[in-house]
Amino acid sequence: MLGSSLLKILPLLAGVGHAVNLSVARDGGNASSPLMYGIMFEDINHSGDGGIYAELIQNRAFQGSIEFPSTLAPWEAVGNAKLSLQNNTVPLSSALPTSVNVAQGAGSRAGGVIGLQNPGWWGLSVKPQTYTGSFWALGSYKGQFTAKLQSATTSHVWASVQIKSECEQSKWVEHKFQFKPPVAAPDTNNTFVLEFNTGHGSVNFNLISLFPPTYNDRPNGNRPDLMKGLKGLKPSYFRIPGGNNIEGDTFNYRWKWNETIGPLTQRPGRPGTWGYENTDGLGLVEYLQWCEDLEVEPVLAVWSGVYLNGYNNANPDVIPEADIGIYVQDALNELEFIMGDVSTEYGALRASLGYPKPWKINYVEIGNEDNLSDPASYTSYRFMAFYDAIHAAYPDMKLISSTGDLTAVSGHSGTDYHEYARPNIYATQFGLWDNANRSHPILLGEYATIQGNKADPSTPVDWSGAEPRLQYPIWVGAVSEAIYTLGAERNGDIVIGASYAPGFQNLNDFQWSPDLVSFNADPDQVAFSTSYYAIQLLSSHRYTHTAPMTSDSGFGPAFYVAGVNSGTTEYTFKAAVYNTTAPIPFNIDFEGLKQGAKSKLTVLNAPSGLSYNVAGGQNVVKETVTELVAKKGGVFSFELKEYDIAVLTTF
Ligand code: AHR
Repeated sequence: MLGSSLLKILPLLAGVGHAVNLSVARDGGNASSPLMYGIMFEDINHSGDGGIYAELIQNRAFQGSIEFPSTLAPWEAVGNAKLSLQNNTVPLSSALPTSVNVAQGAGSRAGGVIGLQNPGWWGLSVKPQTYTGSFWALGSYKGQFTAKLQSATTSHVWASVQIKSECEQSKWVEHKFQFKPPVAAPDTNNTFVLEFNTGHGSVNFNLISLFPPTYNDRPNGNRPDLMKGLKGLKPSYFRIPGGNNIEGDTFNYRWKWNETIGPLTQRPGRPGTWGYENTDGLGLVEYLQWCEDLEVEPVLAVWSGVYLNGYNNANPDVIPEADIGIYVQDALNELEFIMGDVSTEYGALRASLGYPKPWKINYVEIGNEDNLSDPASYTSYRFMAFYDAIHAAYPDMKLISSTGDLTAVSGHSGTDYHEYARPNIYATQFGLWDNANRSHPILLGEYATIQGNKADPSTPVDWSGAEPRLQYPIWVGAVSEAIYTLGAERNGDIVIGASYAPGFQNLNDFQWSPDLVSFNADPDQVAFSTSYYAIQLLSSHRYTHTAPMTSDSGFGPAFYVAGVNSGTTEYTFKAAVYNTTAPIPFNIDFEGLKQGAKSKLTVLNAPSGLSYNVAGGQNVVKETVTELVAKKGGVFSFELKEYDIAVLTTF
């Protein structure tokens, strides 16, 4: 951070509108962060299953565990069928041993139709597009199966296809189908039906799947609406696969990369840490393809040897030092799977699954929030065991500890700092990194305003559960987060990136709010939050170097950073205004720009600090774009008012 050290940060008092007169120099700033704005992802709030992972069928393979036993829900019988879970002597696979048996219920007439139906993930969107389905069946049935999408309220059939049974008595056989509804359904209150004729004995089904078109037409891919939303955020990294969700609640429930790859029939799933079983259909390869699709850098977390034990962080299960090597080797195997030549054991495994071309990982995070889960063992042996082995194998890879401080760092590693706060707290943290120890990079891997302001502006967030969380990000929170990340931007020499967390929320079943993007089964109802639009504006405007500034006033109520593309006079100026009674006049000159030079000023604001976006509603964040012409002395003049977030770019 250079230049702006000349400027002081004023305390959090309601400010008045003193003019900010600024001179921005071209040279002498820092190279800006390589990652800066990114995305944090884990399966929380049905972000993956029932979320961005486009599979429409809920509980498609009856996966379960001791923590979350297999269940039939939400499947229901059709036509007097009797449904039961079975662990057949002939399982579909060792990973998917449980199937549903569909038999004729008592009193059914022979020749009638029976089957099962699924409501999707709290609804099914029906559009005139091609749906691709499949199911595995076991039995002696020789007739036709019928797969349908129909209304759950009127039974109107939107699409239907007949599939000839290829069933065999003691062998699981996959059946595939496609259909295309001619018209869209008016709502998502629809159901998927799979049925057949009685009189030929019962049939067992497993891995019953239905996909709509996916982003970039990836098989087993993602919802286009949510992926387009992420792409629109212009992110530069993707932190995967968590979050608490990588850790696992208790012994052996960690996220196991090798159980998330290969055919879906080979993925057993696992109990996630957010109250439900994960299918792991969204697995390691899918995450990497997602990074390709978004053109972002993966920041890959590897498990660091500690379980959450049902969030009882005081007493988690920890792998003892004598055994940690097993898990270090597992992390090395994972990295070899991703990056290894096909002549290596795990590179060959990757190639055998259809991916001969390796991916590249430049950033690995060792664990998640190990400052909360047994920090003593992390700093005494767990971090170094992973660090030493990965660094020896990949000397250029940037390794990140998960404590958020410097208690576990080594060599050129960095650390991942998480903070959830109130707006008034973030608004005081513009200078958080100005005087930080600059020996190791910092990733702001998780941040978000989760509760509103209190009369005492220093009130910390209440984690006790007594005070409810915000359901959606509010505008004043978005502005304060912008102040926080602008402070990070001007310290781009050590703060390498920042990601709002969590990324997604299925409004029908969530464990954490607020979230960056909220959604339900209807792609037309996605709510991109106020924070989303603030991040989008800041993330869409990058520069290669910070630009030193001199000013006649300190920071607050306006907070700002300037940048420039090295060797040019293409400047970017970003600002956020918080807590002022009057608009702030700005007069800015940029080195090398004269009278008549032009710039574009984009300003975001909302009707009030408490405004938020809801599913299916209008976006409350309003954008105003103005073209400015530099006056005498090359000065651009404009005003910003309370809760404005602004970006000015010269051209
Ligand atoms: O973002 C939600 C959760 O917050 C993450 O899983 C965890 O890392 C943090 O505590």
